[in-house]
Amino acid sequence: MAAHDLIEKFQEAGQGQVFAYFDQLDSAGQKRLLADAAEVDPVEIAALNESLLQSKGAVVDLSGLEPAPYEPLPENGGNVASWQAARAAGELALRAGRVAAFTVAGGQGTRLGYDGPKGTFAVTPLKQKTLFQVFAEKLLAAGQRYGKPLHWFIMTSLQNHEATESFFAEHVYFGLDADHVHLFKQGRMPAVDFDGKILMESRDAIAMSPDGHGGSLRALDRSGALDLMERERIDALSYFQVDNPLVRCIDAEFIGWHFLRESEMSSKMVPKAYSGEKVGHFCRQGEGLVVVEYSDLPAAVQEETDAAGGLRFKAGSIAIHILDREFIRRMARSRSTDESLSFHRADKKVPSLDVNGQSVKSTEANGVKFELFVFDALPFARNPVVIETNRADDFSPVKNAKGVDSAQTCRDDQLRQFARWLRAAGKDVTTDESGLPSIAIEVAPTFGYDEETFIESWKKLSPTPTLADGLYLST
Ligand code: UTP
Repeated sequence: MAAHDLIEKFQEAGQGQVFAYFDQLDSAGQKRLLADAAEVDPVEIAALNESLLQSKGAVVDLSGLEPAPYEPLPENGGNVASWQAARAAGELALRAGRVAAFTVAGGQGTRLGYDGPKGTFAVTPLKQKTLFQVFAEKLLAAGQRYGKPLHWFIMTSLQNHEATESFFAEHVYFGLDADHVHLFKQGRMPAVDFDGKILMESRDAIAMSPDGHGGSLRALDRSGALDLMERERIDALSYFQVDNPLVRCIDAEFIGWHFLRESEMSSKMVPKAYSGEKVGHFCRQGEGLVVVEYSDLPAAVQEETDAAGGLRFKAGSIAIHILDREFIRRMARSRSTDESLSFHRADKKVPSLDVNGQSVKSTEANGVKFELFVFDALPFARNPVVIETNRADDFSPVKNAKGVDSAQTCRDDQLRQFARWLRAAGKDVTTDESGLPSIAIEVAPTFGYDEETFIESWKKLSPTPTLADGLYLST
């Protein structure tokens, strides 16, 4: 679109302030601003202003909510034969190369306050491996196990794409085939003030931010990742977040449930630890499956108990899914409001220009960001499956610099896991009541990425090593 037409489009939508300083910019600045503006659809922003700003946020429909059904683990009453069948089906799919890994790594990680792509943050107890290295080694090991190297898709953001790319190149893709690691950028959305006016980061740049993890569906399509998957005969993506090194990136049982049930989007749940735990809730609403955020579900409902005295809405979401390729394509391309993701509103501090054109950093939320959430795709998925998983073996995210879900809690959870594996292999490990060992140890994912693979490798050691502080088990 010609510059003139683009500017007019913004003016017509009441967003002329975006170009307030256009005539004073040099040609590079004008080019930059026009490129930003080309990413923005002022008509879409007007619609969002109406639905999310004027009504003070969309009202979440809580009518007819029921707890979602899920497949309990065998140790919690699940059907052993069904889990075995799932595992066999998952292994078959992996040997056939039908599944790839997918990490969403485009977030800003503001809570952690780390300068750099979050995937480059060091997390392991001894070797200080980064999140990306942990995932890479898990994928390397799983690819070897099933005789089929895995493809890995990673969604970055405009801000962290180049740094992520260089990081992988610098570390020679941690042993993975570079042709199997596919980085692509997610989309961006402009921030607006509370009157719906698009905010400017500087005179030649719109205040833009990543469009949320739900933007991954569009980005997978736009980047050509779905076409690549089709060419490679990859039918599904194993989706996980960049901040959770415990995740079983490739879990044969989960994959098997997904394929056997012909599910378009599958999810893992953990029973909520306590009623007020800040996780989304898997619920049934009519025929569909939905995730209702903790902030949207009234405390009284979260506290409801069932006949056995447990929490009624106990299925907590930990952002681990499997997504069918053609489902992603359908969602990415749907323009009907009935079958596409809706934006959420998040009030944030947005560095921006004031009325005099000066940069200001607000101390309070001064703007609204628009984000898509991937779990909003669930109601549109056919045959969605939810399975139970053990929190200790799948979930310990690094979100905050300190306190809950921090590097420290994640390190301790890794140590507890290594200690459990050693115990399962018959080694006596001294731990405290929480299962935390008294010594620092580490297991390379290529040695063992779950209990079973760990025990297999452990049995091959002769003699087995002495347990001591600093023990690192690797192949
Ligand atoms: P979070 O909700 O934890 O957000 O993202 P964040 O941006 O990483 O961190 P804060 O809230 O600023 O502290 C959960 C996962 O979704 C990804 C993140 O990279 C993380 O893996 N994500 C989030 C994206 O890929 N894109 C986004 O726009 C938002």
